[in-house]
Amino acid sequence: MKTLGIGLVGSGFMGRSHAYAFRAADAVFDLPVRPSLEVLADIDDNTAAKAAPSLGFARSTGDWKALIADPAVDLVDITAPNALHKPIALAAIEAGKPVYCEKPLAPNAAEAGQMVDAAERNGVMTAVGFNYLKNPMVALAREIVDSGEIGEIISFRGIHAEDYMADPSAPHTWRLEPAGGHGVVADLGSHIISIARHIAGPITSVVGQIATVVAERPVRPGASETRPVEVDDQARALIRFDNGATGSIEASWVSPGRKMTLAFEITGTKGTIFVDHERMSELQLYTSTGQAAGRQGFKTILAGPEHSVYGAFCPAPGHQLGFNDIKTIEARALMLALADGPPFQPDFREAWEIQRVVDAIVLSARESRWLTVTDI
Ligand SMILES: NC(=O)c1ccc[n+]([C@@H]2O[C@H](COP(=O)([O-])OP(=O)(O)OC[C@H]3O[C@@H](n4cnc5c(N)ncnc54)[C@H](O)[C@@H]3O)[C@@H](O)[C@H]2O)c1
Repeated sequence: MKTLGIGLVGSGFMGRSHAYAFRAADAVFDLPVRPSLEVLADIDDNTAAKAAPSLGFARSTGDWKALIADPAVDLVDITAPNALHKPIALAAIEAGKPVYCEKPLAPNAAEAGQMVDAAERNGVMTAVGFNYLKNPMVALAREIVDSGEIGEIISFRGIHAEDYMADPSAPHTWRLEPAGGHGVVADLGSHIISIARHIAGPITSVVGQIATVVAERPVRPGASETRPVEVDDQARALIRFDNGATGSIEASWVSPGRKMTLAFEITGTKGTIFVDHERMSELQLYTSTGQAAGRQGFKTILAGPEHSVYGAFCPAPGHQLGFNDIKTIEARALMLALADGPPFQPDFREAWEIQRVVDAIVLSARESRWLTVTDI
């Protein structure tokens, strides 16, 4: 079978997840091309060499440029901090290699736009890791909406709240570096925006509100020296969709107790859908018709083999998929696209559209006014 050489930049949280996903995709799915973990790059030689064996990579380097130049690397996979996405992606595109990049694509829409232009000019395939779009329950939500079962969509209400920055003694990290872009509105907000656009279509205008809750943080774990926080800890926006629906989006990384509240409610004229990724293999559905008075209520649909591609993991319904399974579904979609199957979505262009909404929320919050997303 044909193999595809993977070059992965970054061996942190997402690097491990990507390495796992490529290996699991090969085991779970009947792929047209076999991913081969060739080169791992990290911030220096030692870090890369230490991580490479456990992640399953044949070789390692402390220089991502060497990874791109390596003839065994067919796909450049970027799981490094946000500020590095653009230089690494542009170099890979220049070398004519497809790019799989983590979200958010770039620090801002202008830089994301440059990445789109480069990829499209060079005819290079791109993919961005908005993995929750690969959750079979998100796919089911989209299917229900498209079928008309809940009528015309009138509202989308979405939130992505976690608590990993809720402790004021949590130190400064690359996530708070302004060079990497905005704060939680980009880090988590981009996920809920990706789902909103996927299910309800383009967002045309926004009015945002952003807040920095913890004004300064230790420069490193346990340090008494602090550094000001220049990005948002909380963000909200009222939104309008191209199809006339309205809604809201909220993101927070300072929400005590919220571990993975990536939740959304889609209201239609004839029913409602609710999904919360703390229970990512469930979808709540309410339909107005066919329910007797006194017996009306939401029903819970548990993911099962009928929901593509759950059945590849498990033949029995209700046994639950997890975060890394969803990444594995993403890796499969990538392998199919690279073997001339269905094009991968979301690509750089869609990630740029998501980034425009992020930028519009921040700018509208600063200017206290509604903004048209296409003006960004
Ligand atoms: N899709 C998702 O659900 C999801 C979840 C978390 C993070 N992310 C995204 O993934 C990316 C990485 O996040 P993370 O949580 O894995 O971060 P992390 O800090 O855990 O890992 C980052 C890795 O990049 C390495 N790195 C730093 N500078 C480097 C350099 N110059 N060259 C090579 N490697 C370098 C670090 O040493 C580390 O191994 C970010 O863009 C983030 O937004 C996505």
